[in-house]
Amino acid sequence: MTRKILVTSALPYANGHIHIGHIVEYVQTDIWVRFQKLIGNECLFVCADDTHGTTIMLRAKAEGKTENEVIAAMDEAHRRDFAGFRVNFDHYGSTNCNENKLLCNEIWAAIRKAGLVEEKEIEQLYDEQAGTFLADRFVKGTCPKCGKAEQYGDNCEVCGAHYEPAELINPVSTITGSVPVVKTAKHLFVNIEAEHQFLDTWVHGGALQPEIENYLTGQFLGEPLHSWDVSRPAPYFGFEIPDAPGNYWYVWFDAPTGYLAALWEYCKKTGKDFDSWRRNPQVEMHHFIGKDITYFHTLFWPAMLKIAGFNLPKKVHIHGFLTVNGEKMSKRRGTFILASTYLKHLNPEYLRYYYASKLSSRVDDIDLNFAELEAKVNADLVGNVVNLASRTAKFAAKTGLAKTYPDDGGLFAQAAAAGDEIAEAYENGEYSKAVRLIMECGKRANKFVEDAAPWTLKDNPAKQDELRNICTVGLNLFCQIVVYLAPILPDLKTQSEELLNVKIDRWQQSKEHLSGTSVNQYKHLLTRVGADKMMQIIEESKEDKKENAVSVPADSANDSGEALTAEPLVGEKISIDDFTKIDLRIARIVEASEVKEAKKLLQLKLSLGGGEYRNVFAGIKAAYEPDKLIGRLVVCVANLQPRQMKFGTSEAMVVAAGSGGADVFLLAPDEGAKPGMRLH
Ligand code: MSP
Ligand code: ZN
Repeated sequence: MTRKILVTSALPYANGHIHIGHIVEYVQTDIWVRFQKLIGNECLFVCADDTHGTTIMLRAKAEGKTENEVIAAMDEAHRRDFAGFRVNFDHYGSTNCNENKLLCNEIWAAIRKAGLVEEKEIEQLYDEQAGTFLADRFVKGTCPKCGKAEQYGDNCEVCGAHYEPAELINPVSTITGSVPVVKTAKHLFVNIEAEHQFLDTWVHGGALQPEIENYLTGQFLGEPLHSWDVSRPAPYFGFEIPDAPGNYWYVWFDAPTGYLAALWEYCKKTGKDFDSWRRNPQVEMHHFIGKDITYFHTLFWPAMLKIAGFNLPKKVHIHGFLTVNGEKMSKRRGTFILASTYLKHLNPEYLRYYYASKLSSRVDDIDLNFAELEAKVNADLVGNVVNLASRTAKFAAKTGLAKTYPDDGGLFAQAAAAGDEIAEAYENGEYSKAVRLIMECGKRANKFVEDAAPWTLKDNPAKQDELRNICTVGLNLFCQIVVYLAPILPDLKTQSEELLNVKIDRWQQSKEHLSGTSVNQYKHLLTRVGADKMMQIIEESKEDKKENAVSVPADSANDSGEALTAEPLVGEKISIDDFTKIDLRIARIVEASEVKEAKKLLQLKLSLGGGEYRNVFAGIKAAYEPDKLIGRLVVCVANLQPRQMKFGTSEAMVVAAGSGGADVFLLAPDEGAKPGMRLH
């Protein structure tokens, strides 16, 4: 019987770009969906950008844009990255859509009707300068338990303690650097303890991996569940709660509903009936998520669905986190790799295959090891799979495939029989097992070709039938493998369809012979990975660091407010004319030397190009060695009134950040800037 399946991946935040950690999840889901479609199930894959919350609001403000402009730009970038990795959604939406608002209203009305909304006054830190309450991530201070500084508002990374932001010692707002005040505000809570019994049953009802069941039982279900704070007072970017004006649903309230909103939009787009999907108990809903967002999906979300009378998730598939070469992804090390950076250098199918070869149904983290990626791609994909085609297709292009499938010593039947076990592995998320079984088929097939050595027969007119038979076997075994790998390698599938003149769109094809058909000219399928490519990606990701810090404001949560506190923003506004009076130029330091008589000064000769020079005395001696400065570009004020000093005339000023002494940082332009260029 065909199953009706709705599949989702977590909705990526609209405040940052997709990186190769995210890609683990979207590829994992995409493989599962492609497999379901291949075996003939009716399967829909929907996703959307998660757009609401404080971060987007602050970012829009900082960039002088509307939230909708910020969201639109990121939506486009996300779609491009997903397409680049061949993640094939049936629909990709946004939580900021009308369907989502209507669904929130509907679920909210059901929660109200069930009498589960509570109102409580809560104390929260408030940034008076920014005019906003501070979410946990936007406050830093000293841990009230262990006394370590620089900890976030909700928990301490050093001792693991959980606390309220108001308990932090010496809290500082990471937005403005100011000291926040404690303010009370009314929040709305959902009493999910009322659904405790339901959750107890659901958690053990087969929807979850055993380790997740244990985690939830141990951490949450053993005691009464805390009511869930689902509202935020204005200003907040989100949906206003209809019966509580001035209050907005917390982003995590309207994010999971975004799954259903995307489904709804899909139904509208294709003329399908929404209710036959969301209220139909025959429909299986499968969520794929990372371990960090487990409790939203396994406690709150099922409770909300149950209260609203919607379908419950059939399964929540939870994966671990990506590490790179054994460590957490790091911008400094260049291992925080954006999807777009990877795609500039390498074939998406390499990473799809690598991840598949590492994924299981367990929640363990998975490690991306560059040497292993290279070895797997070169040995398995190129050396094993593609090799089968490359060694037989060019002969078969002349002869076509034999009309009757020749005797192959049982190899085709053996690989066909493996299909059930491979299918089961896909179904259960045991992709590493599926890959292992498929590669075993490939090895047996390669041994056959190796032993039959078609290349020794090609010039022998008496052996042409034999040659055709060998190639027919080789390409049939290849085609079986391509069917099995199709969920993981959709491009290889398409290329093989062209080569073999056959449409590959049913799992069952792994049991059907190809015979009597023609074969096209062999073109390179997958090629080997060069070791240098990974290094290029790393290098580029290091350089991306600066860019990312600007374009991913979620990171600004890590920026301390110290500098602003030490030197508050200067309030007085200037006109653009005031600004243009300052002639800021790029300059190259061509000479640098110590000024013996002055403790703090270096004497610099700046070139503005074209033979224009400026002599400068700069207070940077404690921070820079003269030799290391020669040749580098800096920014200078070129029209500063010359100043007569004890040791000579200073004719310009080099621009630097920092408080002075050793705490001085010269500015450098991005690559491409030339001496003499004006800053506007
Ligand atoms: N917006 C929420 C999800 C809302 S779902 C109703 C969110 N977004 S996210 O962009 O931070 O993450 C999206 C998904 O990517 C999550 O499932 C998360 O676990 C996963 N990953 C993010 N970084 C990851 C790794 N480094 N490794 C593996 N998965 C990672 O959470
Ligand atoms: Zn602590």
